[in-house]
Amino acid sequence: MSKTYRIAVLGGDGTGPEVTREAVKVLRVAAQKFGFQLDLHDYDYGANRYLRTGEVLPANAADEMRQHDAILLGAIGHPDVKPGILEKGILLALRFALDQYINLRPVRLYPGVECPLKGKGPRDIDYVVVRENSGDVYTGAGGIMMKGSPHEVAMQNMVYTRAQVDRCLRWAFHYTRKYGKKARGRGEHNTLALVGKTNVLTFVFDLWERAFHEMGEREFPDIKRDYYHVDATCMWMVKSPEWFDVLVTANLFGDIITDLAAITQGGLGIAAGGNINPEGVSMFEPMGGSAPKYTGKNVINPLAAICAGMMMLEHLGEQKAANAINAAVSDVCLTKVKSLAAGKMGYGTIEVGDLVAERV
Ligand code: IPM
Ligand code: MN
Repeated sequence: MSKTYRIAVLGGDGTGPEVTREAVKVLRVAAQKFGFQLDLHDYDYGANRYLRTGEVLPANAADEMRQHDAILLGAIGHPDVKPGILEKGILLALRFALDQYINLRPVRLYPGVECPLKGKGPRDIDYVVVRENSGDVYTGAGGIMMKGSPHEVAMQNMVYTRAQVDRCLRWAFHYTRKYGKKARGRGEHNTLALVGKTNVLTFVFDLWERAFHEMGEREFPDIKRDYYHVDATCMWMVKSPEWFDVLVTANLFGDIITDLAAITQGGLGIAAGGNINPEGVSMFEPMGGSAPKYTGKNVINPLAAICAGMMMLEHLGEQKAANAINAAVSDVCLTKVKSLAAGKMGYGTIEVGDLVAERV
């Protein structure tokens, strides 16, 4: 009996369903070739459901999702819905309810993809950001007082517990040991760098920094430790990205630096990430949004969604299938698509999906 994975498919809004369809196409081919089964379940969470029913997420959504081995998400966000409602009510709600406390965002430039950084190539842009995904300003702690008056006060607090920081760091250290540059034969060390702001955020990043060095010294003496301020990190990401191996950072900083990172790997057409609960159900998604203006035009790039599917298979332990998708995406980037931008690929969304699928 071959293995069967129960996958929840959340196409979402705008171009989300189109790119998800291509990812599913590629996953089905990989399943057939590498001998496992996919039991796919579609869910209509998103703007249309919200506009129809007034309900952002059904009350049993998290329990439904827990019945699966993994979740594949397209995109959330719609021009007719005020920003924040769907993002908070669906995406963040699921991340929190399922306690997906790691957001894993690989930054890899495929050969043949144009890099906006002068003189940089695939060997230079090859690192990973581990973004903490459960704390920080995302907890919503804070409030507004005296709203509407000239003395109005708004606060949104950066909140971290030691336990939250420790579980993220421990996962990041283990990840670095397994997938760092030394482990991949690309360097002398496996290096984990903490990205923070110890010069200003002297409470939160004091905690992070102490936890980082204490854990590193005690449990991971084989892993080299570095520290960068977040602002300097942005500079180095442009100037010398080849320095980086694995970066670990807090939620908001991770959100910001991974958009910058995505552009250096060719943009949101290719960047994917995983919201991981190592003990629970994880959710994989392209990093880009729903790109509503391209909806239904067969012009959006599905490679990011396909890469999200690849990360999902890797997470499920189907490494060979993931490698095959990786090689297929790499070949399509090198030999087929002219650009990763929507409408400029030289192929339609469906055709790019076909190109990858036939190479798997
Ligand atoms: C991301 C997104 C989300 C975030 C938004 C849509 C809530 O920007 O996944 O990076 O801030 O985490
Ligand atoms: Mn973001």
